[in-house]
Amino acid sequence: MSSFDQTAIEHTYQNWAKVYEWLTPIYLLGNEKRLRRETIGCLHLQPGQTVLDIACGTGRNFPLILEKIGPSGKLVGVDYTAAMLDRARERVKREGWKNVELIRGDAARIDLKRKFDAALCTLAIGVIPDYHGALDRMVAHVKPGGWLVIGDAKRSTRWYGRPFNWLADLLGYGAAEDMLRRPWVSFQEMLNDFHYEEWFSGFFYVAAGIAPLINKAYSPVSRHS
Ligand SMILES: C[S@@+](CC[C@H](N)C(=O)[O-])C[C@H]1O[C@@H](n2cnc3c(N)ncnc32)[C@H](O)[C@@H]1O
Repeated sequence: MSSFDQTAIEHTYQNWAKVYEWLTPIYLLGNEKRLRRETIGCLHLQPGQTVLDIACGTGRNFPLILEKIGPSGKLVGVDYTAAMLDRARERVKREGWKNVELIRGDAARIDLKRKFDAALCTLAIGVIPDYHGALDRMVAHVKPGGWLVIGDAKRSTRWYGRPFNWLADLLGYGAAEDMLRRPWVSFQEMLNDFHYEEWFSGFFYVAAGIAPLINKAYSPVSRHS
């Protein structure tokens, strides 16, 4: 479990919502568009598909997803923090998107009673206290054969990155993020055709795979921190 609880995280993002739009590009040092484009690229989206964006925040992934699925596709964004969802709602209204649905909920507990062609979670899995639950729910909401991707910041394990892990920890702490987690390890156990890639000297990762025909039972004994 994270050292942050859900109430503390909600409080953080209630405040962050005011500045998230302009702070995120700075936080990601001008690499945001590329990070999002490459992460979303892992979903192999086609026009008309349905996509679930877990912990969607203010909806900064939405334009890139909608560019791929087009007006005949459907995008559902889920987030816990009302203020972040309010910004997402403003974005949807401003852009005139008719095929985006926003739902307030806990990613670790959602049951939307439908399955999607693909699902993603960007810059958020390290923030969700029960991230195992969130990964589990994410996989449960994707049709067998559909792609899933998570992308987030992490500590670097490279010799030239390690001296800067204090900075990653500091930035992560500001975002209520647990930088010591290794969610991709659990993700790998749940998916087929798994692949993992690190960027920016190992301070960012993308992990993707395909939902299996039968959900792989997730054993608590195999859980990694
Ligand atoms: C750093 S923001 C990332 C937002 C967005 N995914 C992006 O790429 O810009 C982290 C988000 O995780 C959300 N979050 C935290 N815990 C959550 C939970 N249990 N369920 C759903 N969303 C959660 C926060 O409200 C916040 O919007």
